[in-house]
Amino acid sequence: KDLEAGRLPLAGKHVLITSGPTHEPIDPVRYIANRSSGKQGHALAAAAYAAGARVTLVSGPVTLPAPANVAVIQVESATEMLKAVEAALPADIAIMAAAVADWRMASEGTQKIKKDGSGRPPALELTENPDILATIGHHKSLRPKLLIGFAAETTDLVDNARGKLERKNADWIIANDVSPATGIMGGDANTVRLVSRSGVEDWPQMSKADVARRIIARAAEVLKT
Ligand code: CTP
Ligand code: CA
Repeated sequence: KDLEAGRLPLAGKHVLITSGPTHEPIDPVRYIANRSSGKQGHALAAAAYAAGARVTLVSGPVTLPAPANVAVIQVESATEMLKAVEAALPADIAIMAAAVADWRMASEGTQKIKKDGSGRPPALELTENPDILATIGHHKSLRPKLLIGFAAETTDLVDNARGKLERKNADWIIANDVSPATGIMGGDANTVRLVSRSGVEDWPQMSKADVARRIIARAAEVLKT
């Protein structure tokens, strides 16, 4: 069994993956969130395990079952996700597939916000969340050898992806067009481009499971060199 595992491309490697949305509480009954099914991130975790890796999956709230043989750490908010990711390091490969909420409440209420009868909605004061990918990307000692982010865009896909690659010090950005017309959000298929410092690769439309297997296969090649 061990000999068999030894032949798998990611045997002996630790792969850290984030998946799903984060929920940022407004008060005890409400939250801010991104739209994310977690399908792509969970598929990556399954693909990394199938390739022989030890896998840690830090997941926001999703309805998907946990992939088999993967250590799942469930979190709610971006702050919790960052803590869990830092605690899971070191990793050989990190793939940040989560749709992290960009903002949270400047101060989270402990009481439910009530309508005051005036018809005027409350003003919610927000503050920016930590950028998990950028934090890991700029880690002095614990930056994974291969750091992969995602960029879901509706315009200027490649330019935006390149900007994120640089700002966050990632190695690859998997960029996907999530314009409503593509029907990608929540679906089983994905059309992505791999944006790196050596250029842009257009991948054909394929299932999220196939996107995951292809990313993992490419990542394993990088680790070999
Ligand atoms: N990301 C992260 N932490 C955040 C925001 C984003 O780790 N607080 C990661 C995502 O998991 C993804 C990548 O950064 O891998 C790009 O996320 P995206 O939301 O596209 O980037 P932002 O920098 O938040 O830019 P935008 O204004 O387009 O939302
Ligand atoms: Ca964002």
